[in-house]
Amino acid sequence: MAKIEVKLSDIPEGKSVTFKWRGKPLFIRHRTGSEISTEQGVPLSQLRDPESDSQRTQKPEWLVVIGVCTHLGCVPIANAGDFGGYYCPCHGSHYDASGRIRKGPAPLNLEVPTYVFADDGSLVVG
Ligand code: FES
Repeated sequence: MAKIEVKLSDIPEGKSVTFKWRGKPLFIRHRTGSEISTEQGVPLSQLRDPESDSQRTQKPEWLVVIGVCTHLGCVPIANAGDFGGYYCPCHGSHYDASGRIRKGPAPLNLEVPTYVFADDGSLVVG
């Protein structure tokens, strides 16, 4: 099983960086305080695929998701769309900064892969 190790100090706050992992895009987002509080405050009743922000993140500052739209597999664009997370231009799906589907045709949230935080300030996915 291929793993990828990412040095977190290379990703500034407010930025989502795309890596390639197992042939797919992997988004690692260093979330701002305001993104964290917005996402933590979203009621589950507003969500199509209800998952709390804390179910989707191990540390609130870091969102780790597979960058494949759950509609038909396009790659969403970071920091775009109506919910401040990701926007898929193929058919207009809007994801929030927790990678949760909020508007448009996609049925499910962006997938969260298995990952761990290592002691040296890196994150290992896979
Ligand atoms: Fe993303 Fe259709 S593939 S909205």
